[in-house]
Amino acid sequence: MSIVDTEHFSIPLLDWYDRNKREMIWRDRMNPYYTWISEIMLQQTRIEAATGYFIRFTEELPDIQSLAQVPEERLMKLWEGLGYYNRARNLKRTAQILVEQYDGRLPADYEALMTLPGIGPYTAGAIASISYGIKAPAVDGNVLRVMMHYLQCGDDISKMSVRRRVEHMLLDVMPERPGDFNQAVMELGEVVCIPNGAPLCEKCPLMDSCQARAAGCQEEYPKKTEKKPRRMENRTLLIYEMDGYIGIQRRPQSGLLAGLYEFPAVPEKLTLKGVRELLEKKGILNARVSSMGTAKHIFSHVEWHMKGFYVKLERAFERQKLPPSVIFVSRDELSQSYALPTAFRFYLKQIIEGKNEKRGQ
Ligand code: ADE
Repeated sequence: MSIVDTEHFSIPLLDWYDRNKREMIWRDRMNPYYTWISEIMLQQTRIEAATGYFIRFTEELPDIQSLAQVPEERLMKLWEGLGYYNRARNLKRTAQILVEQYDGRLPADYEALMTLPGIGPYTAGAIASISYGIKAPAVDGNVLRVMMHYLQCGDDISKMSVRRRVEHMLLDVMPERPGDFNQAVMELGEVVCIPNGAPLCEKCPLMDSCQARAAGCQEEYPKKTEKKPRRMENRTLLIYEMDGYIGIQRRPQSGLLAGLYEFPAVPEKLTLKGVRELLEKKGILNARVSSMGTAKHIFSHVEWHMKGFYVKLERAFERQKLPPSVIFVSRDELSQSYALPTAFRFYLKQIIEGKNEKRGQ
């Protein structure tokens, strides 16, 4: 890797940021709590989508004290759709630690921030620099992409050693406005040095000193790293309805989507006939069963290939044939109180809108 200097890097970059920075709701109302929440949300989703989540979240939980006390179910509901639900649990754990040990405030100290659950080098650097003006690097995937272009460097960006080198390099040229500088590099990666081999070099303030651009090979960076293929899992969801109430159950407290709600499922793809046989084995003989179609959901390491079946229980006692873990809730409760991950959205939407029964049997 070669040298990054202030004259060719930091100055034109900050100048570009001052003229082009996008509006973000948390930028207007700067406080460390908002920076923290928005940065964690932005690890899950794009700025446009994060805005709605941020408003809802901070209206209900306006400060560290309220976050420390929020019931788990409510927290999951506020996070519903963002994914990686442990991030939300870590927010609450950290808020509790802050109340107990830090006088209810985020410490103005990069190293101390990093000891808190869910706060790694990126988030610690973002909070320290944006909220407290501390010179600390905040290197995310966008920053790595910018730097691999700038340096024409083919190293594997998933390696911690590469991230560390980039952190040091940026720290060396960090100007007096560390928060703006960090956000400028991120934002350049988000809107100009964009992913998938299509950087908008003509718009880039670093065009004249970028080495990949000088070599005419800007489309080749960062180098792709080999990824393990995802595991495929088949699932058949059974969406029970009884007297207008829908059957859901809580997932185990560890593993994928821990502690969230789901429609009961079996780990295989069943036909309509197969579903009827399964129900008969449970002693459910009088259900009306219809297909709700197929859906796919991609997690980072797993893909779910789902089939859904709507199962209307005609006799109240048949509910007893299901495990006690299955609870029946109204459609209102389902949409307002229980967190169902995005993986089930295709089926949830049909159930909430009452469209499931219009399909063929
Ligand atoms: N991406 C994540 N956090 C950001 C921030 N604070 N500014 C610009 N882009 C970001």
